[in-house]
Amino acid sequence: MEDVIKKLKKIEQEAIAAIKASSSQGDLEGVKVKYLGRKGRLTAFLRELKNIPSEERPIVGKTANEIKEHLKRQLELKIQELKQLEQNENLAVIDITLPGRRAYFGGTWHPITQTLREICDVFLHMGFEIAEGPDVELDYYNFEALNIPPHHPARDMQDTFYISPKVVLRTHTSSIQSRIMEKQPPPIRVIAPGAVYRCDADVSHTPMFHQVEGLLVDKDISFAHLKGVLTAFMEAIFDKDIGVRFRPSFFPFTEPSAEMDISCIICGGKGCRVCKGTGWLEILGCGMVDPAVFEKVGYDPERWTGFAFGLGVERIAMLKYGINDIRLFFENHLRFLKQF
Ligand code: PHE
Repeated sequence: MEDVIKKLKKIEQEAIAAIKASSSQGDLEGVKVKYLGRKGRLTAFLRELKNIPSEERPIVGKTANEIKEHLKRQLELKIQELKQLEQNENLAVIDITLPGRRAYFGGTWHPITQTLREICDVFLHMGFEIAEGPDVELDYYNFEALNIPPHHPARDMQDTFYISPKVVLRTHTSSIQSRIMEKQPPPIRVIAPGAVYRCDADVSHTPMFHQVEGLLVDKDISFAHLKGVLTAFMEAIFDKDIGVRFRPSFFPFTEPSAEMDISCIICGGKGCRVCKGTGWLEILGCGMVDPAVFEKVGYDPERWTGFAFGLGVERIAMLKYGINDIRLFFENHLRFLKQF
């Protein structure tokens, strides 16, 4: 029995020495396997217990188990020690006297939000009020109330996202026109900023973009009022005298309809890449409200006249800030956004 215990103690001493000599987690793992593993020396020893005379078995077994526990604890302690060492080493290569790198917490308004606000500000100063309508819109307000009947080709033109046969994502902010007029009698002087959606994507088109709609209805409103308001707006938003021109166009909900151009902001009208050499930039669609639109909301077209316009916010932001790819607005890379 003495012999057996001696043997056990020897195994223990060897194991302890091996643990002490370990300098890595890998070493420790090796020691663990060698002594405590399924084929380890201590385990093998315990398996031989049955060959020991039965009176001696309890005491030998107890000693062996104590040694096993002792080794486990030593292994655990050594693991902790090694971890601590490793941490200290890492600390040693960190220069804690270096000043910290400053985190970027400087949030700003998105350039589209900024532009949208500036646009609204100009019109607010002219006495317009702000109205809003839903992005998810009834087909009725987006098309039908605007004199665009079910099979009108203008519906194709718009590349509409349909939610259901009668519900769409609005393709333009003109959808708020009839909503406003249904709710109140003239005079009306509102703008309606908001997101609009079209199934379209390339350098100059994103499936979602922003428009500001304008609608003014009163007695004796003429095309001259429309020209005056929009020219004043362009000069205010680009902060300089600007050449403008109106080209005849077509929208089912305005008559006559026009497209407004401004002299190129980039080259001043001489002709450049942005204006494709023409010196002019297409900036918005507008026109006098079509009598058919008035009739649908119960306004008497003999009594009231008005104008409407819809301008693209991204287009204005791109010109203001010299941005040549509309997608930059929606990728939201910090390097881009931080400039505003
Ligand atoms: N809704 C038209 C568009 O998105 C613009 C427009 C608005 C034209 C109001 C005339 C009057 O292209």
